[in-house]
Amino acid sequence: MGLAEEVKRVVAEFDFSAEDVRKATKEFMREMEEGLRKDGTHLSQIPTYVTAVPNGTEKGLYMAVDLGGTNFRVCSVQLHGNTTFSLTQSKVPIPHELMVAKTAKELFSFLAKQIQLFLETHHNDHYQGYKRKKQAGDNTEEEEIFDLGFTFSFPVQQIGINRGMLIRWTKGFDIQDAVGKDVCVLLQDELDALHLPVRVAALVNDTVGTLMARSYTSPGKSTTLLGAIFGTGTNGAYVEKLPSIKKLVEDKNAGDYDESTGEMIVNTEWGSFDNSLSVLPNTPYDADLDKASVNPGIQMFEKRVSGMFLGEILRRALISLAHDHALFKDETSDAADLAPNSPLLKTWGLDTSFLSLTEADQTPDLNITRQALENDFAVASASTDHAKAVRAIAGAIGRRAARLSAVAIAAVVLASGRLDTEDVVDVGVDGSLVEFYPGFEMYLREALREVEGIGEKEERVRIGIAKDGSGVGAALIALVAGRSGAEAPS
Ligand code: GLC
Repeated sequence: MGLAEEVKRVVAEFDFSAEDVRKATKEFMREMEEGLRKDGTHLSQIPTYVTAVPNGTEKGLYMAVDLGGTNFRVCSVQLHGNTTFSLTQSKVPIPHELMVAKTAKELFSFLAKQIQLFLETHHNDHYQGYKRKKQAGDNTEEEEIFDLGFTFSFPVQQIGINRGMLIRWTKGFDIQDAVGKDVCVLLQDELDALHLPVRVAALVNDTVGTLMARSYTSPGKSTTLLGAIFGTGTNGAYVEKLPSIKKLVEDKNAGDYDESTGEMIVNTEWGSFDNSLSVLPNTPYDADLDKASVNPGIQMFEKRVSGMFLGEILRRALISLAHDHALFKDETSDAADLAPNSPLLKTWGLDTSFLSLTEADQTPDLNITRQALENDFAVASASTDHAKAVRAIAGAIGRRAARLSAVAIAAVVLASGRLDTEDVVDVGVDGSLVEFYPGFEMYLREALREVEGIGEKEERVRIGIAKDGSGVGAALIALVAGRSGAEAPS
């Protein structure tokens, strides 16, 4: 077979048909319901203890930190109370050795140090004033303590607004010592060790933050239903009716929560949808990637959808073509055109941003893709044909990811019943994939229309980016938590 046929064959391996979308949506709804009834299911359906979404009038100065992807972000957020906010932030990459450290302390003391640095840089007068008072033995500092929203974007069993035990790590983190521990206590202990004027007031998943931020900035007739992340990982949190969260309302040991709104935000942890692969596609590249990951068999949906994995799927598909066939070979000689030091030969060597780059490449000879192959991936001479092959396969992987994402959104929208009663169903999204992958929303919407019960009504699903969700959203939850008088975790 020639290269063109081989490429067609590989592209077809990434097909996810309209029928597949419909079947997967049904299974997703079944798993949602199952997760609301009991623990230990694919979709964790974690009750977040957040029972109200904001309306844009909230005010005050709060801190927020965000751990969950490549960077650790620290910010302070001034909520102006008129749907707007200002945000000051700093960002540091998380050193890889801390992501796989022996002890939780190594990671959390690093986080506390960054918070101290942030205070010194952006709120130094306040911080120094607090320190002086403390040293003078003056204990009237209660209102000088920042309430902090801790965005911790991993599966956590929440037992209160600022209490929660880590269930498992995802996205390449692996610190066994932290599993089962209360991550708020881990952070508060390190903050206290540095005598910082900061109280961990709320524990927040990034999807919950996204949902809150979207509600704050775009209040309308209908409140936001779903906050979703399509970035390094993927996940969604949505507004559920309290009585439907059976495992919470029937749990005598559950923490306190406000029942007056009759609703609570549920963190689905949909990254683990269909871990048993009953409806998800499974190409040889998916299967091999899973084996090479730190958590085989887990987060199977995430491994087909999110930014941490798409580049690696593509790399594996390309290498299979390079090994078996003509891709990246100089046609006039026998020499391999892929230098032995090419990142394409290394696991995780291809970043998902490359998929966005080649999808966006509109040059007639695919010069941008060719240059990237030559400069970043040590392909000796990338022909237009080879670049076309790469672009076609990358496109198939991106399109499949968007169609799978539609499954999750469709299921949550259908389960809510809102399309029957409301003009618009609002969804807030964030993450590098929705933001930077060209056509992601278009492919996603195409698949939404294929779902039974959505069809034409797809137009009434409003999807909008909620930037800085993890900052402003966490601040909003810290505000609500502060009002409810939750104590510092210990
Ligand atoms: C992973 C985490 C989840 C998070 C998502 C997006 O799926 O388990 O908690 O929301 O990534 O960051």
